[in-house]
Amino acid sequence: CIDISTLYKDTGHFTYDQGYGSTASTKSAITYIDGDKGVLLYRGYPIEQLAEHSSFLEVAYLLLNGELPKKAEFDSFSNEITHHTMMHESQKEFFKGFHHDAHPMAMLAASVASMSAFYHDKINVEDPADRRLAAIRLIAKMPTLAAGCFRYSIDWPFRYPRNNLEYVDRFLHMMFEVPSEPLQLSPVAAKALDLLFILHADHEQNASTSTVRLVGSTGANPYASIAAGITALWGPAHGGANEAVLKMLNEIGTPDKVESAVLRAKDKNDSFRLMGFGHRVYKNFDPRAKIIREMTHKVLNELGVNDPLLEVAVKLEEAALKDDYFVERKLYPNVDFYSGIIYKALGIPTEMFTVMFAIARTAGWIAHWIEQHETPGSRIGRPRQIYVGSDVRDYIPGAKR
Ligand code: ACO
Repeated sequence: CIDISTLYKDTGHFTYDQGYGSTASTKSAITYIDGDKGVLLYRGYPIEQLAEHSSFLEVAYLLLNGELPKKAEFDSFSNEITHHTMMHESQKEFFKGFHHDAHPMAMLAASVASMSAFYHDKINVEDPADRRLAAIRLIAKMPTLAAGCFRYSIDWPFRYPRNNLEYVDRFLHMMFEVPSEPLQLSPVAAKALDLLFILHADHEQNASTSTVRLVGSTGANPYASIAAGITALWGPAHGGANEAVLKMLNEIGTPDKVESAVLRAKDKNDSFRLMGFGHRVYKNFDPRAKIIREMTHKVLNELGVNDPLLEVAVKLEEAALKDDYFVERKLYPNVDFYSGIIYKALGIPTEMFTVMFAIARTAGWIAHWIEQHETPGSRIGRPRQIYVGSDVRDYIPGAKR
């Protein structure tokens, strides 16, 4: 019989780091975070500057290529994206297998995974040109698929992408256009959505990006790898938090109920947490949350929306930031705390919030997938475990158990 306590003696050293709190899984040149100072850089550029001056498509180029594009480079990239916005005609049929009330993240994950079947003969992950084509296809088609998920859920016919529109306007058109009343696209709404996409475009080795890299490390094709990222993003501890925040604010309902919500969040016998608060890496303000908070007030004003949930959110933030429990644990609002209020003001239904996040994060996911394949000597991701199960024992035939 093997003595379990001796099992790990012959395997050399490995560390037990639950949740990978202090383990770097890779080197990367894409995004830098200083969680103590609240700093976020994409390819060296501060998120605040990109938010103020750039556009989502330019940021996608930056993440993929490492440099900001010159005008001709951007025009060419934008043209390529525009060329690939259509979803495969047969993919529309694929949607028909879903229940109309399925969660849009379920439909999105399945639709993106299905691209592995629609474009299966055209991707060699070893070929840089094929990798680039996959990136262009994913960034281009994600809004089309996302709008498809929304329209299917309300039983509206799909809209083809209008290629005379910019990336975000095109998406809003595919979402909301109805034949009887041509859509007046609001520049305020488009600007707000573009900004949210910039802020969500990448965030180094978060759960979904690490998932994309882990799947990618096996040599799986890019669509399968990104579909895995979408499923990881869905959870309420990650991207699903934006949907959970809005549900929580609705449940709290009025500013006078904020105090009892904070009390519940501190109670260790209650599983309730303040959604949109806390972060594994930021032990200071999430810089994206600061930008979004400012933007929320501005966008709601400009759109003439008076949402009582904003008052609840502001009160909740104030109460938490004054509370020792949150102060000691360095729990600050994260990117998801205010984003839902903006999505709601733009007319995007709650169940689509995480889909919005997925559209934006696709740029980061695929940039990481490409970086991984460009890095010489990359190995398959294969974490170890600490075995805590039974000692070796003999099989007992069924009749004798
Ligand atoms: N409300 C109340 N308490 C919290 C919260 C919260 N939102 N977040 C963390 N805590 C507490 C924990 O209970 C724990 O307390 P303890 O030390 O007394 O046991 C302590 O703070 C540390 O929390 P952990 O769960 O260990 O922190 P971790 O780094 O593992 O989790 C996470 C980070 C998942 C973001 C967590 O803060 C959380 O669940 N937040 C709410 C969900 C959310 O907003 N997620 C979005 C994150 S951003 C993104 O993915 C885009």
